[in-house]
Amino acid sequence: MQGRVVTERVTLMGGVDWHRRLFDALIPLPEGTSYNAYLVKGSEKTALLDTADPATTDELLQQLEAEQRIDYIVAHHAEQDHSGTLPELLALYPEATVLATEKGKGMLVDLLHLPPERVEAVADGEQRSLGDRTLTFIHAPWVHWPETMLTYLDEERLLFTCDFFGSHYATSRVMVGDDAHVVSSAKRYYAEIMMPFRKPIERHLARLEDLDIAMIAPSHGPIWDRPDVIIDAYRDWVSGSVKNVAVIPFISMHGSTSELVDRLVTELVRHGVTVRPFDLTVTDIGDLAMAMVDAATIVIGSPTVLGGAHPQAAYAASLANALRPKTRFASVVGSYGWAAGSARALVEAMPALRVEVLDPVLVRGKPRADDLEAVDRLTATIAERHRALL
Ligand code: FEO
Repeated sequence: MQGRVVTERVTLMGGVDWHRRLFDALIPLPEGTSYNAYLVKGSEKTALLDTADPATTDELLQQLEAEQRIDYIVAHHAEQDHSGTLPELLALYPEATVLATEKGKGMLVDLLHLPPERVEAVADGEQRSLGDRTLTFIHAPWVHWPETMLTYLDEERLLFTCDFFGSHYATSRVMVGDDAHVVSSAKRYYAEIMMPFRKPIERHLARLEDLDIAMIAPSHGPIWDRPDVIIDAYRDWVSGSVKNVAVIPFISMHGSTSELVDRLVTELVRHGVTVRPFDLTVTDIGDLAMAMVDAATIVIGSPTVLGGAHPQAAYAASLANALRPKTRFASVVGSYGWAAGSARALVEAMPALRVEVLDPVLVRGKPRADDLEAVDRLTATIAERHRALL
């Protein structure tokens, strides 16, 4: 795809990766993704903001074919999906200087073997003139790496945010416009990438309140031409408030655990709690991560396997622990044959979650009436805790 017009001086470049279905060999990409680079032309100098994933190097180089000179390449973030084309670009544009944070400079030199003399560190708030356009750099550590920064194009009130506010969403559209679905893609992106960094993100959001922002241009997905939409969504996601929702990732080997989960679902609904059950044999972990963004409770359903949790359930617990959602309550339901070990294993797998652990329900074999009553007591407790909280 050719470069696409954002404004008279700003062109959207980079690659649209329509068919990629996995990121970091971990994260499903049901809608592909894009690696946005932005060419900004001032009256005197030209800057390229971010580059592209090595998989789309040719696309970016083709878009830049007519550019005789690039003065600055701004590297907001050292991860290769945005910095991976830097070695080729530095070879093509010998006059270009890479601008990054001090930490970013070290990472680019170490990760991509860039010559240190070609990378210049810029301070928080530092400005670089392109003539009639000015770039202002805003350090934003931990969204989602420690070296990240944003760039504000003063004269156009355009904020370039790299991963921050991004979405894995391949589209030929430049702007989000009225495509409400992008918010859902951005929520999935937040859940998978940003959620562990809620506190720094909250601080960066507060800082952005002082900026007059006309558009937010991330390096994945389309541009937010109504920036309040995504800023308000992020404020909600990072806030301390949770929703009256129970997320239930589960797996069942012979039907006993799924019987407990069915009862849990039925009773939670009867108590007015919204449920999101996920059968882990068919679950897209991005959907599960997205459901965890604001759910008050996680209940994992797992049989005991060889004295511990089923590996799939252990994976769900490990995912929750890594993503650190703001969940307040957790529990476990499951069956066992001769020893009940799943609950302890799963709770111990989530030390990063600041949750109250509610009494698990573990049953030997097929649930009996009193086992189902124990599930009923768990659901009543969950509903009561939610009422007290919301
Ligand atoms: Fe899109 Fe953290 O790279």
